[in-house]
Amino acid sequence: MQLGLGGRRAVVTGGSKGIGYAICEELLAEGASVVFCARHGDDVRSAAERLAERGTVSGVVCDVTDPVDVEQMVSAAARTLGGVDVLVNNAGGAHPGGFEDLSDDDWRRDLDVKLFSQIRCTRACLPHLAASPAPRVVNINAVYGRYPDPAFFATSVNRAACHNLTKVLAAQYGPRGILVNSVNVGFVDTPQWERIRAARAPESTREELLARLAAAEVPLGRAGTPDEVAGVVVFLASDRASYVTGAVVDVAGGMGR
Ligand SMILES: NC(=O)c1ccc[n+]([C@@H]2O[C@H](COP(=O)([O-])OP(=O)(O)OC[C@H]3O[C@@H](n4cnc5c(N)ncnc54)[C@H](OP(=O)(O)O)[C@@H]3O)[C@@H](O)[C@H]2O)c1
Repeated sequence: MQLGLGGRRAVVTGGSKGIGYAICEELLAEGASVVFCARHGDDVRSAAERLAERGTVSGVVCDVTDPVDVEQMVSAAARTLGGVDVLVNNAGGAHPGGFEDLSDDDWRRDLDVKLFSQIRCTRACLPHLAASPAPRVVNINAVYGRYPDPAFFATSVNRAACHNLTKVLAAQYGPRGILVNSVNVGFVDTPQWERIRAARAPESTREELLARLAAAEVPLGRAGTPDEVAGVVVFLASDRASYVTGAVVDVAGGMGR
């Protein structure tokens, strides 16, 4: 299948590791040029060096919870790339915990990195997307947004808001040709699971924890890999998804019945 992504210009938030890194790899393999961001400079530099073997890429240090950082990152990306056709809002992180474990500050931090980061990055990219021949936004979300789990309480609530952000952006900007979709992740083996393991199951290895959760909740019986998510994200960013907008697609091995 020809995805038609050659020459497209993509911004990926949280591209130094995990799912975001795999999305950068896949976009580069399809001939897109990429600017990605993350907070830790050493990780950004090392990821950019590895990704440069695959195509035209640069990394920017940016915290998506900081409005000034986001404005600067998107301006720099648009200058470097000559515009922006694709925005992948991927940066985020798990905040495990039940209702009584969450303070107001925890809720605010989680909303900031999940919902507000998608709002800010999309707003900053809008003028560039409006000038693109094939503008796309893909938001990385979680199955918990429509299949709530009290053990991931804040994620369950805040990702539901992200789903409606996707749908209402799709409704508002569809007439201008800007396609906005969402990919829901279930359990995907990435560095963030090391943090979840330490908080929730310090006696287990990451593989044991993921295998246990997948056996209980995932019909396919295993955790996913970052490239299994990246393939669907890049399809949604491509010309072959030209009639898909406002969709929330699960890439979660059937989790969330
Ligand atoms: N893996 C899963 O099972 C799973 C399940 C549901 C949803 N998700 C969602 O999928 C997305 C990717 O997750 P992942 O598992 O790949 O996570 P990960 O392995 O922890 O990687 C997260 C990436 O985002 C960056 N990042 C985190 N906070 C950021 C911030 N405030 N500003 C800029 N960059 C930031 C990280 O780099 P720095 O730390 O250097 O900033 C890193 O590059 C997240 O939104 C996550 O919530 C994942």
